[in-house]
Amino acid sequence: MSKSAKWSPKEDGSKRLPIYQHKSKLIQAVRDCSFLVVTGETGSGKTTQLPQYLREAGFCKDGKIGITQPRRVAAITVAQRVAQEMQCTLGKEVGYQVRFDDCTSQDTVVKYMTDGCLLREVLADPALSQYSVIILDEVHERSLNTDILLGLIKKVFTDPAKATKGRSFPLKVVVMSATLETDKLSAFLSNCPVFAIPGRTFPVTCTFGSAVGPKDLESTGYVKEVVKVALDIHTSEMAGDILVFLTGQSEIEHACDMLFEKAECIDYRYDVTDQSVDGLLILPLYGSMPTGKHTQLCQIGASVSFVWCYCDVIFFSFFFFSVLDQQRQIFQPPPPRIRKCVVATNIAATSLTINGIKYIVDSGFVKQLNHNSRVGMDILEVVPISKSEAQQRAGRAGRTSAGKCFRIYTKEFWEKCMPEYTIPEIQRTSLTAVILTLKCLGIHDVIRFPYLDCPEERFILEALKQLYQFDAIDRRGNVTKLGELMVEFPLHPGLTRALLKAASLGCQDLLLAVAAMLSVENIFIRPGHPDKQKEADKKHRALAAKTGSMNDFATLLSVFQSCKSSDRPSAWCKENWIHWRALKSAFSVETQLRDILHRLQQKKDFPVETFDGNKSELFRRCLCTGYFSNVARRSIGKVFCTMDGHGSMVHIHPSSSLFDQEGELNWVIFHDVLATSRVYIRTVCPIRYEWVKDLLPKLHEVDAYELSSVAREEVTAEEMTKWESREAAKRQSEVSDEDAM
Ligand code: CDP
Ligand code: MG
Repeated sequence: MSKSAKWSPKEDGSKRLPIYQHKSKLIQAVRDCSFLVVTGETGSGKTTQLPQYLREAGFCKDGKIGITQPRRVAAITVAQRVAQEMQCTLGKEVGYQVRFDDCTSQDTVVKYMTDGCLLREVLADPALSQYSVIILDEVHERSLNTDILLGLIKKVFTDPAKATKGRSFPLKVVVMSATLETDKLSAFLSNCPVFAIPGRTFPVTCTFGSAVGPKDLESTGYVKEVVKVALDIHTSEMAGDILVFLTGQSEIEHACDMLFEKAECIDYRYDVTDQSVDGLLILPLYGSMPTGKHTQLCQIGASVSFVWCYCDVIFFSFFFFSVLDQQRQIFQPPPPRIRKCVVATNIAATSLTINGIKYIVDSGFVKQLNHNSRVGMDILEVVPISKSEAQQRAGRAGRTSAGKCFRIYTKEFWEKCMPEYTIPEIQRTSLTAVILTLKCLGIHDVIRFPYLDCPEERFILEALKQLYQFDAIDRRGNVTKLGELMVEFPLHPGLTRALLKAASLGCQDLLLAVAAMLSVENIFIRPGHPDKQKEADKKHRALAAKTGSMNDFATLLSVFQSCKSSDRPSAWCKENWIHWRALKSAFSVETQLRDILHRLQQKKDFPVETFDGNKSELFRRCLCTGYFSNVARRSIGKVFCTMDGHGSMVHIHPSSSLFDQEGELNWVIFHDVLATSRVYIRTVCPIRYEWVKDLLPKLHEVDAYELSSVAREEVTAEEMTKWESREAAKRQSEVSDEDAM
């Protein structure tokens, strides 16, 4: 059988997708121009079909087709689906690459990847010479990395002089978006053509609830309400699957636990309107899948029977599922007479389409990383979604027939608390890592870079300032040797800085494990049942106490090492209420980070330092070099005050082993910040002031004006000399002040 015959579309329903009728016109449109914007309703087949059409049309002759996704789960599941449609093994012709997980091979011609991965590839090969087509997908999501890729592509490939540099054939760029902002995208990319795939949608009736009003912004009561509404739908609405929108993993798991408990009590003979329904299949869907904790199948009827467990395999009367199949189940029709209820994050709004959904339960909230100017750092916050996002969520119920959307919030909440549109990530998060990437690509003028929407200048300055503080750039804004090493790691620059410090001191093992543990999802299992919760908490406290130092970073290290050296690591995890899958990912991430480090250590100018002190101090001192901008000092009682100039009041998160610590604990560093009713610092480590004393002034050393000039590349040599002599004079006067004392 010839290869092309093997690749023809199968009877898998793909011919019924709206995109199918436009196949030849689409292929022609890609042939005719270098840039193309494609829009179409979510679910019309853009992500799964277009790459296959282009493959069939011979676009892989010279290079690969690369498709970016803002979310890693989307990249993985879509690649799985396409491999299935093309009847090939995942990782062969069709593969995916996400951070720390490369499932591609020499044979891969259709490659799904996160936008972050492509950005890293651009660093190594700015001409993208391996690719014949780049498809930037889900552009409407306006993720930071996709926005940067758009700017880079515009800068390089819309300029005919630069476009062919390093390439033997021209690159085709397709930008895909769910209807929003297509004119703006076309204008941005030299007024390129827009191809609109007409879609068919059915009416969705939306109702507002009464549970969440403008006063409930800080409460988490919506989880309970969402569960209640989902159960009401299950008992009183006709057959059809339910999609529930919540904000994150722990909340979703909690909601699934509650749903399971309540669904258990339903008597299908009396309580359920539609007698063709006699079971509820509850499926969680969130960002760090496929590491999901458990699948819960709850079929309650004449014979009540279910199994609940935290291991990889779930056995339920006549169904047999492994967690690995969990994702596939989300997309497959449920077993007969069973109603499917998917409890998801925003990922199910546009990135992934689940067929058969008839009912939506919208919590009205989303978890978002926002730069908080009050606290001066990025904070993961639960915030109201935008109105356009709410419409998008509702639309998921009307793909194949008329649907219903139950909003648990009031009309007043909609009017007063929900913005019209979601602000692009580039305008609300830290740009540190991205600016370092741009600098390493030789783009010094990071203020006048072609952004689709410009970030606020102060965010760019903040990023430059941070890079300067980490010694990644010098005062002139040039990347330092350290900066060149830092950009190689797919980690937050602070964590990379600490890792490189440890490596220079020969104790990289400590930081490699910690960096890996901080790069995977939460490793600690927190069960919903109060008794089990107590048991898990006790185990976790014992793990922390084992380190003898009450330091959350040390706990992570100890969990990593104990599990790795255990004879039966999965049993060890089960016993200690640790997610085995998360730890397995951490082991793999550690190996990959070790490989990167090893490669860099071969360079002859890799820094080498010495230290004489004890191991615990060495470990914490390395952490300080990366986290000195996250230092807090005890203020009154349990309140800490940050030392970054903002002086924000923060509390230690209850999950920290230092939560109840009194006494000696005066100075701490922390990994991140979570804002709920209070501002919490998480993953905390006690330190001594002496260790950061010399680093802290660096936080205030440069002012925005100087860096702004650097950013704009407007500093002439003359200005720079003037500035340097002014600085020298300042330093001189400081020295004389000290002399005088
Ligand atoms: O990209 P767009 O939203 O236009 O559509 P798509 O993601 O290509 O989805 C086309 C169809 O494939 C939908 O009916 C999805 O439900 C289905 N699909 C699936 O069954 N399993 C996946 N992992 C991804 C998509
Ligand atoms: Mg898509």
